[in-house]
Formats: sequence, structure tokens, C-alpha cells
Amino acid sequence: MPQNGAVRLAVLGFVLACTPADAAGDRALGEYLSSECTSCHQSSGKQVGGIPAIIGHPAEQFVALMNAYRERQRDNQVMQAVAARLSSEEIAALAAYYESLKPNP
Ligand code: HEC
Repeated sequence: MPQNGAVRLAVLGFVLACTPADAAGDRALGEYLSSECTSCHQSSGKQVGGIPAIIGHPAEQFVALMNAYRERQRDNQVMQAVAARLSSEEIAALAAYYESLKPNP
């Protein structure tokens, strides 16, 4: 049946189109997980005390920062402990969420 091939191709195309979004991290999960971060990091993007704003970073950069704490390349005990508790999937989710936030002047 020639139509079968076309359907299969369409399904394949759909799956391929969806893959990057999945790899980019689940923003809703990130929003949920961010409750652990907002006690220190303001979601408005304001810097308070010595605590940097973490919104609006490109997701890749955010993931790299978190991995640097997780692997103890970046020296901050608090953030090392926070990052150590998170899975790669959770970090990707947080990255997707924080990337989507815009500064609130
Ligand atoms: C107890 C307070 C506290 C909590 C909770 C906390 N952080 Fe942090 N975070 C800090 C401090 C302080 C720094 C600055 C550390 C440094 O100088 O390297 C920081 C730095 C960062 C940075 C690097 C920012 C930059 O531009 O250098 C990222 C990214 C980050 N935190 C993400 C998170 C995420 C995501 C969470 C929640 C899962 C979280 N933090 C929870 C205190 C906290």
C-alpha cells in the first residue's frame, strides 16, 4: 500500500519535530522546581545582596553554570549543594523556565 509509506513518513516527521522541544527541558517542571530557588533568587530578576539574578540566561549557559556547581568547578557551597540534588533533566527544566522569564522593572 503506497499510502502506508506516506503515513509512516508523516509520523516520523512529527516525531523528529517534537524531539528538540523535549530535549530543551520541561518549563512547567522548571516552574515547579523553582520554588526551591526563589527563597534566594528573585524571580523578578532583581539582584538582592550577594545573590545574582538568574533569569534570562540562555538555557545552555544556565545548564553550564549549574553543572559547574554540580561538578564543583565553581566554588560556592550553597549552590554546590543545591545543584547536587538536581538531575540533569531537572536542571534542563529549570533552564527552560528561567530562560523564559523577563526582567520586571
Ligand atoms: C540559599 C540561597 C540560594 C538558593 C536556595 C539557590 N541559590 Fe543559586 N546562588 C546563590 C548564591 C549566593 C549564588 C552566587 C554564588 C557564586 O558567587 O558563585 C548563586 C548563583 C547561582 C547561579 C549562577 C548565576 C551567575 O550568573 O553566576 C545560578 C544559575 C543559580 N544560582 C541557580 C539556582 C537555582 C536554579 C536554584 C534552585 C534550584 C538556586 N540557585 C537556589 C544562592 C542560592
